[in-house]
Amino acid sequence: APSGPLVGKHVIVTSGPTHEPIDPVRYIANRSSGKQGHAIARAAAEAGARVTLISGPVDISGPAGVTTVRVESARDMLAAVEKALPADIGIFAAAVADWRVANAGAQKIKKNGGALPELSLTENPDILATIARRNEGRPPLMVGFAAETEHVIEHAKQKLAKKGCDLIVANDVSTETGVMGGDRNTVHLVTAGGVETWPTLSKTDVARKLVERLGKLVEEVAKP
Ligand code: C5P
Repeated sequence: APSGPLVGKHVIVTSGPTHEPIDPVRYIANRSSGKQGHAIARAAAEAGARVTLISGPVDISGPAGVTTVRVESARDMLAAVEKALPADIGIFAAAVADWRVANAGAQKIKKNGGALPELSLTENPDILATIARRNEGRPPLMVGFAAETEHVIEHAKQKLAKKGCDLIVANDVSTETGVMGGDRNTVHLVTAGGVETWPTLSKTDVARKLVERLGKLVEEVAKP
């Protein structure tokens, strides 16, 4: 059986994309595969944590030994996170859609003699910021991700402050990096204390290294 700082701790991980319905058969989505978030859930479980993985629609299954909750939309994901609280650590790796369709059709939208349907968008709740800014029931350690295509570290620093989390894992998801859907990742850990750049690693190794680091941090935040 594992030993260490994460044994018995409750870790909530969000992973994958969200699907935002346009009508009952169509949706808006993104290219997130869930590989990095699922790998983190697996690594946390291997480190002895009790893990709740809240996953958007992905092709991969929930890791063994992890409680996996499958959701579709950002609003469903927020509700599932709130239901899973309290937790010692929140790791929000999901690529949540920023917008949803405000006027989603209750029935399949039909072609109408060349007239185009007008989709109007409205902002989704920011799950990470909502939970990180709660006065009560905020997990003591909150981790966000920042998938950027440029100015990666600068944007991550801004995100750390804006969302109110303790750590941002920033990565470059420009098409040429192959990160989205791929098996490798190059990340920067951004905290109030500074930036640490890791070498390119498999998503499994990024997950293990991150979980190891969170074990150390969780001990620090627990100190009086
Ligand atoms: O999309 P953005 O770059 O702002 O995402 C940064 C972090 O915020 C990620 O950890 C992501 O999971 C989280 N997020 C969220 N809910 C949103 C948008 C982003 O939890 N609606």
